Amino acid sequence: MRIVVTGGAGFIGSHLCDRLLAEGHSVIAMDNLITGTADNIVHLVGRDDFLFIKHDVTNYIYIDGPVDAVLHFASPASPIDYMQLPIQTLKVGALGTHKALGLARAKGARFLLASTSEVYGDPLVHPQPETYWGNVNPIGPRGVYDEAKRFAEAMTMAYHRVHGVETRIARIFNTYGPRMRLDDGRVIPNFIGQALRGEPLTVYGDGSQTRSFCYVDDLVEGIVRLLHSDEVEPVNLGNPQEMSILELAHLINQMTGNEAGVIFKPLPKDDPRVRRPDISKARRVLDWEPKISLEEGLERTIEYFRAKVG
Ligand SMILES: NC(=O)c1ccc[n+]([C@@H]2O[C@H](COP(=O)([O-])OP(=O)(O)OC[C@H]3O[C@@H](n4cnc5c(N)ncnc54)[C@H](O)[C@@H]3O)[C@@H](O)[C@H]2O)c1
Repeated sequence: MRIVVTGGAGFIGSHLCDRLLAEGHSVIAMDNLITGTADNIVHLVGRDDFLFIKHDVTNYIYIDGPVDAVLHFASPASPIDYMQLPIQTLKVGALGTHKALGLARAKGARFLLASTSEVYGDPLVHPQPETYWGNVNPIGPRGVYDEAKRFAEAMTMAYHRVHGVETRIARIFNTYGPRMRLDDGRVIPNFIGQALRGEPLTVYGDGSQTRSFCYVDDLVEGIVRLLHSDEVEPVNLGNPQEMSILELAHLINQMTGNEAGVIFKPLPKDDPRVRRPDISKARRVLDWEPKISLEEGLERTIEYFRAKVG
């Protein structure tokens, strides 16, 4: 297959490019590098089966020749990024999704949207099944990301219903691994960076809020299975192993030998209290579940960041 990955120089997008190339597909990564970096794909440059195009996907997308699939991963994804780039985030979720769908339609390609657990907002149902419609504050600071992705899902379903585009929607829960940015504000790189520098880990609130973390290789496996499945409606992809942020902090301190402990700061606005995917649908329709334990995934991620901090 000839596959376009928007956001291909980002954290997840670049791992997806690696995986698709390893399966023998030809890959076109399209990215404007607003939150991603060419470092993530530098090892692919020069291959015959890989092409990087620097392009802002909120503008018309032109690709020469056939395309079999469009995987739309372009979007700022960490809260620090999307709160600093609120308009770009709304634009890439709305205009960017429209343009990426337009490309899929023009080429008769399958389309997969990287949506997010944030469509559930601060959930009133726990864990969150795909049938839950969510609890999002549209005008809060996080609303730019949550609503952009909700709009993107609606646009994807409209292209499916009106134009018959074969569409897939992955609702991705917190994912981590090598190639995240140390300063992207997400909790795992934050904690690992602080731990490797011997600083106390910053816990927002009392640390009792929960998250569930999926290692990137597991997520990519789920994405590939979803792409090849017949499932049009959204599918949650994430790791259902839930833990409190304080537990995570202690684990990272223990794994890195950091003795500086933790410090507490006030919780940001609209921070979700709990987050855990219900992955029964992914188990049923994709025969997928995460395989990599948190300890193993953290080990690999700490190793990656050690070189960056060192
Ligand atoms: N990492 C997670 O935990 C997570 C969870 C849920 C959903 N997602 C989704 O997965 C996708 C990838 O997230 P990530 O964690 O790899 O983030 P990332 O910031 O590392 O990657 C996003 C990429 O999109 C690019 N991009 C942004 N706007 C663009 C535009 N207008 N045109 C072209 N490229 C653009 C960025 O430069 C970057 O390379 C995003 O759509 C995100 O919403 C990620």
